[in-house]
Amino acid sequence: MIEFPNNFAWGAATSGPQSEGGFKKKHQNNFDYWYSIDPNAFYKGVGPDTASNFYNDYKDDLKLMREAGIKNLRTSIQWSRLIDDFEEATVNQDAVDFYNNVIDEMIKYGITPYINLHHFDMPIELQKKYGGFESKHVTDLFAKFADKCFELFGDRVHHWFTFNEPKVIIDGGYLYKFHYPLKVDGPLSVQVAYNINLASAKAIQKFHERFSEGENKIGIILNLTPVYPASGAEGDEAAAWFANLWDNNMFLDPAILGHYPKELVKILQDDGVLWDSTDEELEIIKNNTIDELGVNYYHPERVQAPQISPKSLQDWMPDIYFDNYEMPNRVMNVDKGWEIYPKTLYDIAINIRDNYGNIDWFVSENGMGVSRENRFIKDGIVQDDYRIKFIKDHLKELHKGIEEGSNCHGYFVWTGIDCWSWLNAYRNRYGLIRDDIHTQIKTIKKSGYWFRQLSDNNGFEE
Ligand code: BG6
Repeated sequence: MIEFPNNFAWGAATSGPQSEGGFKKKHQNNFDYWYSIDPNAFYKGVGPDTASNFYNDYKDDLKLMREAGIKNLRTSIQWSRLIDDFEEATVNQDAVDFYNNVIDEMIKYGITPYINLHHFDMPIELQKKYGGFESKHVTDLFAKFADKCFELFGDRVHHWFTFNEPKVIIDGGYLYKFHYPLKVDGPLSVQVAYNINLASAKAIQKFHERFSEGENKIGIILNLTPVYPASGAEGDEAAAWFANLWDNNMFLDPAILGHYPKELVKILQDDGVLWDSTDEELEIIKNNTIDELGVNYYHPERVQAPQISPKSLQDWMPDIYFDNYEMPNRVMNVDKGWEIYPKTLYDIAINIRDNYGNIDWFVSENGMGVSRENRFIKDGIVQDDYRIKFIKDHLKELHKGIEEGSNCHGYFVWTGIDCWSWLNAYRNRYGLIRDDIHTQIKTIKKSGYWFRQLSDNNGFEE
Protein backbone atom coordinates (compact mmCIF):
# COMPACT_ATOMS: atom_id res chain seq x y z
CA MET A 1 0.00 0.00 0.00
CA ILE A 2 1.32 3.44 -0.91
CA GLU A 3 0.00 5.71 1.80
CA PHE A 4 0.07 9.50 1.83
CA PRO A 5 0.46 11.80 4.84
CA ASN A 6 -2.56 12.53 7.03
CA ASN A 7 -4.83 15.26 5.64
CA PHE A 8 -3.34 14.91 2.17
CA ALA A 9 -5.62 16.90 -0.18
CA TRP A 10 -7.15 14.85 -3.00
CA GLY A 11 -8.72 17.01 -5.61
CA ALA A 12 -9.32 18.05 -9.17
CA ALA A 13 -8.65 21.19 -11.13
CA THR A 14 -10.57 23.07 -13.79
CA SER A 15 -11.01 26.70 -14.76
CA GLY A 16 -13.91 29.10 -15.20
CA PRO A 17 -13.44 29.67 -18.94
CA GLN A 18 -13.14 25.93 -19.63
CA SER A 19 -16.15 24.79 -17.66
CA GLU A 20 -18.74 27.54 -17.13
CA GLY A 21 -19.79 28.47 -20.66
CA GLY A 22 -20.53 32.02 -21.74
CA PHE A 23 -23.98 32.23 -20.13
CA LYS A 24 -24.94 35.70 -18.84
CA LYS A 25 -21.46 37.11 -19.39
CA LYS A 26 -21.45 40.82 -20.02
CA HIS A 27 -17.82 41.03 -21.11
CA GLN A 28 -15.73 38.80 -23.33
CA ASN A 29 -12.29 37.51 -22.49
CA ASN A 30 -9.53 37.04 -25.08
CA PHE A 31 -10.75 33.52 -25.95
CA ASP A 32 -14.43 34.50 -26.25
CA TYR A 33 -13.37 37.31 -28.54
CA TRP A 34 -10.92 35.30 -30.63
CA TYR A 35 -13.60 32.65 -31.13
CA SER A 36 -16.12 35.30 -32.21
CA ILE A 37 -13.80 36.62 -34.93
CA ASP A 38 -12.18 33.33 -36.03
CA PRO A 39 -14.05 30.17 -34.99
CA ASN A 40 -11.94 28.10 -37.37
CA ALA A 41 -8.91 28.69 -35.21
CA PHE A 42 -10.54 26.27 -32.74
CA TYR A 43 -10.71 22.50 -33.00
CA LYS A 44 -13.79 21.57 -35.04
CA GLY A 45 -14.96 25.17 -34.63
CA VAL A 46 -16.04 24.45 -31.04
CA GLY A 47 -15.58 27.43 -28.72
CA PRO A 48 -15.86 28.23 -25.02
CA ASP A 49 -19.48 29.39 -25.21
CA THR A 50 -21.00 26.17 -23.82
CA ALA A 51 -17.98 24.38 -22.33
CA SER A 52 -19.25 21.74 -19.89
CA ASN A 53 -22.16 23.94 -18.84
CA PHE A 54 -20.98 24.36 -15.25
CA TYR A 55 -22.79 27.70 -15.07
CA ASN A 56 -26.12 25.88 -15.20
CA ASP A 57 -25.13 22.44 -13.92
CA TYR A 58 -22.88 23.33 -10.99
CA LYS A 59 -25.09 21.67 -8.39
CA ASP A 60 -25.21 18.30 -10.13
CA ASP A 61 -21.59 18.61 -11.24
CA LEU A 62 -20.31 19.18 -7.71
CA LYS A 63 -22.36 16.31 -6.38
CA LEU A 64 -20.94 14.02 -9.04
CA MET A 65 -17.40 15.21 -8.39
CA ARG A 66 -17.78 14.47 -4.70
CA GLU A 67 -18.99 10.97 -5.64
CA ALA A 68 -15.75 10.56 -7.58
CA GLY A 69 -13.74 11.28 -4.42
CA ILE A 70 -12.93 14.91 -5.21
CA LYS A 71 -12.64 16.59 -1.82
CA ASN A 72 -10.90 19.73 -3.06
CA LEU A 73 -11.68 21.64 -6.22
CA ARG A 74 -9.49 24.17 -7.90
CA THR A 75 -11.33 26.45 -10.30
CA SER A 76 -11.08 30.09 -11.32
CA ILE A 77 -13.17 33.23 -11.11
CA GLN A 78 -13.42 34.87 -14.49
CA TRP A 79 -12.32 38.50 -14.36
CA SER A 80 -14.50 39.17 -17.41
CA ARG A 81 -17.54 37.66 -15.66
CA LEU A 82 -17.24 39.15 -12.19
CA ILE A 83 -16.24 42.70 -12.99
CA ASP A 84 -18.46 45.31 -14.58
CA ASP A 85 -16.20 48.37 -14.71
CA PHE A 86 -12.56 47.26 -14.83
CA GLU A 87 -11.09 50.59 -13.68
CA GLU A 88 -13.22 50.73 -10.54
CA ALA A 89 -13.68 47.00 -10.00
CA THR A 90 -17.43 47.28 -9.66
CA VAL A 91 -19.19 43.93 -9.95
CA ASN A 92 -21.96 42.21 -11.88
CA GLN A 93 -24.47 40.96 -9.33
CA ASP A 94 -25.35 37.86 -11.38
CA ALA A 95 -21.74 36.80 -11.25
CA VAL A 96 -21.41 37.48 -7.53
CA ASP A 97 -24.48 35.32 -6.94
CA PHE A 98 -23.12 32.57 -9.18
CA TYR A 99 -19.72 32.37 -7.51
CA ASN A 100 -21.29 32.61 -4.04
CA ASN A 101 -23.60 29.74 -4.90
CA VAL A 102 -20.76 27.64 -6.29
CA ILE A 103 -18.61 28.19 -3.20
CA ASP A 104 -21.51 27.47 -0.84
CA GLU A 105 -22.41 24.35 -2.76
CA MET A 106 -18.80 23.12 -2.62
CA ILE A 107 -18.74 23.60 1.12
CA LYS A 108 -22.07 21.80 1.43
CA TYR A 109 -20.46 18.71 -0.13
CA GLY A 110 -17.28 19.01 1.92
CA ILE A 111 -15.28 20.14 -1.10
CA THR A 112 -12.62 22.70 -0.20
CA PRO A 113 -12.43 25.54 -2.74
CA TYR A 114 -9.04 26.48 -4.20
CA ILE A 115 -9.67 29.65 -6.18
CA ASN A 116 -7.48 30.96 -8.94
CA LEU A 117 -7.83 34.47 -10.37
CA HIS A 118 -6.36 34.21 -13.84
CA HIS A 119 -6.45 31.17 -16.07
CA PHE A 120 -5.30 32.64 -19.42
CA ASP A 121 -8.42 34.84 -19.51
CA MET A 122 -7.79 38.52 -20.12
CA PRO A 123 -10.87 40.75 -20.52
CA ILE A 124 -10.75 41.73 -24.18
CA GLU A 125 -11.43 45.39 -23.42
CA LEU A 126 -8.21 45.53 -21.43
CA GLN A 127 -6.33 43.70 -24.18
CA LYS A 128 -7.59 46.14 -26.80
CA LYS A 129 -7.23 49.31 -24.78
CA TYR A 130 -3.94 48.62 -22.99
CA GLY A 131 -2.44 45.46 -24.50
CA GLY A 132 -3.38 43.40 -21.43
CA PHE A 133 -0.31 42.65 -19.34
CA GLU A 134 1.85 44.58 -21.77
CA SER A 135 0.72 47.50 -19.63
CA LYS A 136 1.61 48.17 -16.01
CA HIS A 137 -1.73 49.90 -15.51
CA VAL A 138 -3.38 46.51 -16.03
CA THR A 139 -1.29 45.10 -13.17
CA ASP A 140 -3.09 47.59 -10.90
CA LEU A 141 -6.48 46.67 -12.36
CA PHE A 142 -5.73 42.99 -11.75
CA ALA A 143 -4.87 43.73 -8.11
CA LYS A 144 -8.18 45.59 -7.73
CA PHE A 145 -10.07 42.65 -9.18
CA ALA A 146 -8.20 40.28 -6.86
CA ASP A 147 -9.00 42.44 -3.87
CA LYS A 148 -12.67 42.45 -4.81
CA CYS A 149 -12.61 38.64 -4.85
CA PHE A 150 -10.91 38.53 -1.43
CA GLU A 151 -13.57 40.91 -0.09
CA LEU A 152 -16.50 38.96 -1.52
CA PHE A 153 -15.40 35.38 -1.00
CA GLY A 154 -12.48 35.46 1.46
CA ASP A 155 -14.72 34.46 4.38
CA ARG A 156 -15.09 30.95 2.85
CA VAL A 157 -12.12 30.57 0.49
CA HIS A 158 -8.83 29.92 2.25
CA HIS A 159 -6.63 28.94 -0.71
CA TRP A 160 -6.13 31.67 -3.34
CA PHE A 161 -3.96 31.74 -6.44
CA THR A 162 -3.05 34.73 -8.56
CA PHE A 163 -2.14 33.09 -11.89
CA ASN A 164 -2.20 29.80 -13.70
CA GLU A 165 0.92 29.10 -15.80
CA PRO A 166 2.23 32.59 -16.64
CA LYS A 167 4.75 30.91 -18.93
CA VAL A 168 1.94 29.72 -21.18
CA ILE A 169 0.55 33.26 -21.38
CA ILE A 170 3.83 34.50 -22.82
CA ASP A 171 4.55 31.41 -24.94
CA GLY A 172 1.04 31.43 -26.42
CA GLY A 173 0.38 35.16 -26.68
CA TYR A 174 3.84 36.63 -27.35
CA LEU A 175 6.17 33.98 -28.78
CA TYR A 176 4.54 31.07 -30.58
CA LYS A 177 1.08 32.35 -31.52
CA PHE A 178 -1.27 29.86 -29.92
CA HIS A 179 -3.16 32.27 -27.63
CA TYR A 180 -4.66 35.63 -28.45
CA PRO A 181 -3.15 38.31 -29.06
CA LEU A 182 -1.06 35.98 -31.25
CA LYS A 183 2.04 38.18 -31.24
CA VAL A 184 5.61 37.10 -31.94
CA ASP A 185 7.78 39.53 -30.03
CA GLY A 186 10.62 38.24 -27.84
CA PRO A 187 11.46 41.52 -26.06
CA LEU A 188 7.78 42.20 -25.39
CA SER A 189 7.40 38.69 -23.95
CA VAL A 190 10.13 39.57 -21.42
CA GLN A 191 8.21 42.65 -20.32
CA VAL A 192 4.90 40.77 -20.13
CA ALA A 193 6.53 38.07 -17.98
CA TYR A 194 7.83 40.75 -15.63
CA ASN A 195 4.46 42.53 -15.53
CA ILE A 196 2.66 39.29 -14.66
CA ASN A 197 5.03 38.67 -11.76
CA LEU A 198 4.40 42.25 -10.69
CA ALA A 199 0.63 41.85 -11.00
CA SER A 200 0.85 38.71 -8.87
CA ALA A 201 2.85 40.52 -6.18
CA LYS A 202 0.44 43.48 -6.21
CA ALA A 203 -2.51 41.12 -5.71
CA ILE A 204 -0.64 39.44 -2.85
CA GLN A 205 -0.01 42.88 -1.33
CA LYS A 206 -3.77 43.50 -1.30
CA PHE A 207 -4.24 40.09 0.24
CA HIS A 208 -1.80 40.92 3.04
CA GLU A 209 -3.58 44.20 3.70
CA ARG A 210 -6.86 42.36 4.08
CA PHE A 211 -6.00 39.15 5.95
CA SER A 212 -3.82 38.55 8.96
CA GLU A 213 -1.01 36.04 8.64
CA GLY A 214 -1.97 32.36 8.61
CA GLU A 215 -5.69 33.00 8.24
CA ASN A 216 -5.80 32.45 4.48
CA LYS A 217 -3.12 31.37 2.04
CA ILE A 218 -2.15 32.75 -1.32
CA GLY A 219 0.00 31.25 -4.04
CA ILE A 220 0.65 30.94 -7.73
CA ILE A 221 0.33 27.97 -10.08
CA LEU A 222 3.33 27.24 -12.26
CA ASN A 223 3.86 24.60 -14.90
CA LEU A 224 7.22 23.33 -13.80
CA THR A 225 9.53 20.84 -15.31
CA PRO A 226 13.21 20.61 -14.68
CA VAL A 227 14.81 20.99 -18.11
CA TYR A 228 16.80 17.92 -19.10
CA PRO A 229 19.69 18.29 -21.58
CA ALA A 230 19.75 15.98 -24.61
CA SER A 231 23.28 14.88 -23.67
CA GLY A 232 26.23 15.78 -21.47
CA ALA A 233 27.73 17.85 -24.30
CA GLU A 234 28.58 21.41 -23.32
CA GLY A 235 26.15 22.98 -25.80
CA ASP A 236 23.24 20.85 -24.59
CA GLU A 237 24.04 21.53 -20.94
CA ALA A 238 24.20 25.26 -21.63
CA ALA A 239 20.87 25.10 -23.45
CA ALA A 240 19.24 23.34 -20.47
CA TRP A 241 20.79 25.82 -18.05
CA PHE A 242 19.26 28.79 -19.89
CA ALA A 243 15.92 27.05 -20.48
CA ASN A 244 15.68 26.37 -16.75
CA LEU A 245 16.26 30.03 -15.98
CA TRP A 246 13.79 31.16 -18.61
CA ASP A 247 11.02 28.62 -18.18
CA ASN A 248 11.16 27.97 -14.45
CA ASN A 249 13.24 30.39 -12.40
CA MET A 250 11.90 33.53 -14.09
CA PHE A 251 8.61 32.80 -12.27
CA LEU A 252 9.61 30.58 -9.36
CA ASP A 253 12.29 32.89 -7.96
CA PRO A 254 10.28 36.11 -7.69
CA ALA A 255 7.24 34.17 -6.41
CA ILE A 256 9.09 32.30 -3.64
CA LEU A 257 12.37 34.14 -3.07
CA GLY A 258 11.20 37.65 -3.93
CA HIS A 259 13.89 38.35 -6.51
CA TYR A 260 15.01 37.36 -10.00
CA PRO A 261 17.95 35.05 -10.71
CA LYS A 262 21.00 37.27 -11.22
CA GLU A 263 22.25 35.18 -14.16
CA LEU A 264 18.99 35.64 -16.07
CA VAL A 265 18.98 39.38 -15.43
CA LYS A 266 22.56 39.62 -16.73
CA ILE A 267 21.86 37.68 -19.92
CA LEU A 268 18.76 39.71 -20.73
CA GLN A 269 20.62 42.91 -19.93
CA ASP A 270 23.57 41.96 -22.15
CA ASP A 271 21.12 41.10 -24.94
CA GLY A 272 19.45 44.50 -24.52
CA VAL A 273 16.01 43.04 -23.73
CA LEU A 274 15.76 43.31 -19.95
CA TRP A 275 12.37 44.38 -18.65
CA ASP A 276 11.69 47.89 -17.52
CA SER A 277 11.40 47.92 -13.72
CA THR A 278 11.52 50.43 -10.88
CA ASP A 279 12.99 50.05 -7.39
CA GLU A 280 9.54 50.49 -5.96
CA GLU A 281 8.16 47.60 -8.04
CA LEU A 282 11.06 45.33 -7.13
CA GLU A 283 10.34 46.13 -3.50
CA ILE A 284 6.70 45.05 -3.96
CA ILE A 285 7.90 41.78 -5.49
CA LYS A 286 10.38 41.28 -2.66
CA ASN A 287 7.82 41.87 0.09
CA ASN A 288 4.95 39.86 -1.35
CA THR A 289 6.02 36.28 -1.85
CA ILE A 290 3.66 33.32 -1.87
CA ASP A 291 2.55 31.04 0.98
CA GLU A 292 1.96 27.94 -1.12
CA LEU A 293 2.86 26.78 -4.61
CA GLY A 294 0.74 24.88 -7.11
CA VAL A 295 2.66 22.78 -9.63
CA ASN A 296 1.12 21.70 -12.91
CA TYR A 297 2.99 18.82 -14.45
CA TYR A 298 2.21 16.87 -17.61
CA HIS A 299 5.44 16.18 -19.47
CA PRO A 300 9.15 16.89 -19.16
CA GLU A 301 11.06 19.51 -21.10
CA ARG A 302 14.14 18.26 -22.95
CA VAL A 303 16.37 20.60 -24.86
CA GLN A 304 19.48 20.65 -26.99
CA ALA A 305 21.86 23.32 -28.23
CA PRO A 306 20.17 25.47 -30.90
CA GLN A 307 20.40 23.63 -34.22
CA ILE A 308 20.10 26.66 -36.45
CA SER A 309 22.53 29.56 -36.28
CA PRO A 310 21.35 32.11 -33.72
CA LYS A 311 19.11 34.77 -35.13
CA SER A 312 20.30 38.35 -34.90
CA LEU A 313 19.60 39.97 -31.55
CA GLN A 314 17.28 42.43 -33.28
CA ASP A 315 14.89 39.50 -33.51
CA TRP A 316 15.54 38.35 -29.98
CA MET A 317 13.72 35.17 -29.07
CA PRO A 318 14.55 32.76 -26.23
CA ASP A 319 15.08 30.17 -28.98
CA ILE A 320 18.53 31.59 -29.64
CA TYR A 321 19.60 29.68 -26.54
CA PHE A 322 17.87 26.33 -26.88
CA ASP A 323 15.88 24.00 -29.10
CA ASN A 324 13.43 21.37 -27.97
CA TYR A 325 14.71 17.83 -28.12
CA GLU A 326 12.63 14.75 -28.84
CA MET A 327 14.32 11.90 -27.08
CA PRO A 328 14.27 8.68 -29.12
CA ASN A 329 12.26 5.82 -27.57
CA ARG A 330 10.47 8.08 -25.15
CA VAL A 331 7.11 6.86 -23.84
CA MET A 332 4.40 8.93 -25.45
CA ASN A 333 0.77 9.81 -25.00
CA VAL A 334 0.29 9.83 -28.74
CA ASP A 335 -3.16 11.42 -28.64
CA LYS A 336 -1.82 14.55 -27.02
CA GLY A 337 1.73 14.29 -28.36
CA TRP A 338 3.26 14.60 -24.90
CA GLU A 339 5.98 12.42 -23.40
CA ILE A 340 5.01 10.45 -20.30
CA TYR A 341 7.78 10.64 -17.71
CA PRO A 342 6.57 10.40 -14.10
CA LYS A 343 10.04 10.70 -12.53
CA THR A 344 9.95 14.44 -13.12
CA LEU A 345 7.48 14.76 -10.23
CA TYR A 346 10.14 13.36 -7.92
CA ASP A 347 12.74 15.77 -9.36
CA ILE A 348 10.36 18.69 -8.83
CA ALA A 349 9.72 17.60 -5.24
CA ILE A 350 13.44 17.50 -4.49
CA ASN A 351 14.12 20.81 -6.25
CA ILE A 352 11.48 22.54 -4.14
CA ARG A 353 12.84 20.92 -0.99
CA ASP A 354 16.44 21.88 -1.65
CA ASN A 355 16.25 25.19 -3.48
CA TYR A 356 12.98 26.83 -2.49
CA GLY A 357 12.95 26.57 1.30
CA ASN A 358 10.81 23.45 1.15
CA ILE A 359 7.76 25.66 0.68
CA ASP A 360 4.30 24.15 1.13
CA TRP A 361 3.23 22.92 -2.34
CA PHE A 362 0.82 20.61 -4.10
CA VAL A 363 0.29 19.13 -7.54
CA SER A 364 -2.31 21.50 -8.93
CA GLU A 365 -2.70 19.65 -12.28
CA ASN A 366 -1.63 16.31 -13.65
CA GLY A 367 -3.57 14.12 -16.01
CA MET A 368 -3.90 12.30 -19.26
CA GLY A 369 -5.77 13.59 -22.30
CA VAL A 370 -7.11 10.84 -24.54
CA SER A 371 -9.14 11.19 -27.70
CA ARG A 372 -12.27 9.27 -28.74
CA GLU A 373 -12.83 7.84 -25.30
CA ASN A 374 -16.13 6.40 -26.45
CA ARG A 375 -13.92 3.61 -27.87
CA PHE A 376 -13.49 2.44 -24.30
CA ILE A 377 -17.10 2.52 -23.13
CA LYS A 378 -18.32 -0.82 -21.80
CA ASP A 379 -21.60 -1.22 -19.88
CA GLY A 380 -22.01 2.55 -20.04
CA ILE A 381 -18.71 3.30 -18.29
CA VAL A 382 -15.44 4.51 -19.83
CA GLN A 383 -12.89 1.82 -18.93
CA ASP A 384 -9.93 4.18 -18.69
CA ASP A 385 -7.34 1.89 -17.13
CA TYR A 386 -4.65 3.89 -18.96
CA ARG A 387 -5.60 6.96 -16.86
CA ILE A 388 -5.48 4.99 -13.61
CA LYS A 389 -2.02 3.74 -14.55
CA PHE A 390 -0.89 7.26 -15.47
CA ILE A 391 -2.03 8.66 -12.12
CA LYS A 392 -0.56 5.75 -10.14
CA ASP A 393 2.82 6.05 -11.85
CA HIS A 394 2.98 9.76 -11.06
CA LEU A 395 1.79 9.28 -7.49
CA LYS A 396 4.54 6.74 -6.85
CA GLU A 397 7.21 9.29 -7.78
CA LEU A 398 5.48 11.99 -5.78
CA HIS A 399 5.26 9.70 -2.78
CA LYS A 400 8.99 9.02 -2.98
CA GLY A 401 9.66 12.77 -2.93
CA ILE A 402 7.39 13.21 0.10
CA GLU A 403 9.10 10.34 1.92
CA GLU A 404 12.36 12.15 1.33
CA GLY A 405 11.00 15.25 3.03
CA SER A 406 9.38 17.34 0.31
CA ASN A 407 6.54 19.40 1.72
CA CYS A 408 3.76 18.43 -0.69
CA HIS A 409 0.21 18.54 0.70
CA GLY A 410 -1.97 17.41 -2.17
CA TYR A 411 -2.61 16.02 -5.62
CA PHE A 412 -5.22 17.51 -7.98
CA VAL A 413 -5.98 15.66 -11.16
CA TRP A 414 -6.79 17.51 -14.35
CA THR A 415 -9.73 17.23 -14.42
CA GLY A 416 -13.01 16.32 -12.67
CA ILE A 417 -15.50 16.56 -15.53
CA ASP A 418 -14.28 16.55 -19.16
CA CYS A 419 -13.97 20.20 -20.05
CA TRP A 420 -13.27 22.44 -23.00
CA SER A 421 -9.66 22.84 -24.01
CA TRP A 422 -8.23 26.06 -25.44
CA LEU A 423 -7.03 24.57 -28.68
CA ASN A 424 -8.40 21.05 -28.66
CA ALA A 425 -11.98 21.69 -27.57
CA TYR A 426 -13.21 18.19 -26.67
CA ARG A 427 -10.70 16.16 -28.66
CA ASN A 428 -8.64 15.01 -25.70
CA ARG A 429 -10.64 14.12 -22.61
CA TYR A 430 -8.98 14.36 -19.21
CA GLY A 431 -11.89 13.91 -16.82
CA LEU A 432 -12.65 11.36 -14.13
CA ILE A 433 -16.21 12.00 -15.31
CA ARG A 434 -17.34 11.83 -18.93
CA ASP A 435 -19.36 14.66 -20.40
CA ASP A 436 -21.40 13.61 -23.40
CA ILE A 437 -21.39 16.99 -25.09
CA HIS A 438 -24.42 16.14 -27.23
CA THR A 439 -26.72 15.14 -24.38
CA GLN A 440 -24.87 16.86 -21.51
CA ILE A 441 -25.17 13.58 -19.60
CA LYS A 442 -22.26 13.17 -17.21
CA THR A 443 -21.08 9.73 -16.08
CA ILE A 444 -18.32 8.68 -13.72
CA LYS A 445 -15.52 6.81 -15.52
CA LYS A 446 -13.69 3.81 -14.11
CA SER A 447 -10.91 6.22 -13.05
CA GLY A 448 -13.49 8.22 -11.07
CA TYR A 449 -14.49 5.16 -9.04
CA TRP A 450 -10.83 4.35 -8.55
CA PHE A 451 -10.07 7.95 -7.51
CA ARG A 452 -12.76 7.75 -4.89
CA GLN A 453 -11.07 4.75 -3.30
CA LEU A 454 -7.74 6.52 -3.52
CA SER A 455 -9.07 9.57 -1.76
CA ASP A 456 -11.04 7.59 0.86
CA ASN A 457 -8.07 5.31 1.62
CA ASN A 458 -5.49 8.09 1.34
CA GLY A 459 -3.43 5.81 -0.87
CA PHE A 460 -3.55 2.78 -3.16
CA GLU A 461 -2.38 -0.78 -3.55
CA GLU A 462 0.48 -1.05 -6.04
C1 BG6 B 1 -2.75 23.10 -18.57
C2 BG6 B 1 -3.78 24.19 -18.44
O1 BG6 B 1 -1.59 23.63 -19.07
O2 BG6 B 1 -3.03 22.04 -19.45
C3 BG6 B 1 -5.20 23.73 -18.69
O3 BG6 B 1 -3.69 24.84 -17.20
C4 BG6 B 1 -5.23 22.80 -19.92
O4 BG6 B 1 -6.01 24.85 -18.84
C5 BG6 B 1 -4.36 21.58 -19.60
O5 BG6 B 1 -6.50 22.46 -20.32
C6 BG6 B 1 -4.37 20.49 -20.65
O6 BG6 B 1 -3.92 20.97 -21.88
P1 BG6 B 1 -4.83 20.89 -23.17
O7 BG6 B 1 -4.14 21.75 -24.20
O8 BG6 B 1 -4.85 19.47 -23.62
O9 BG6 B 1 -6.16 21.41 -22.80
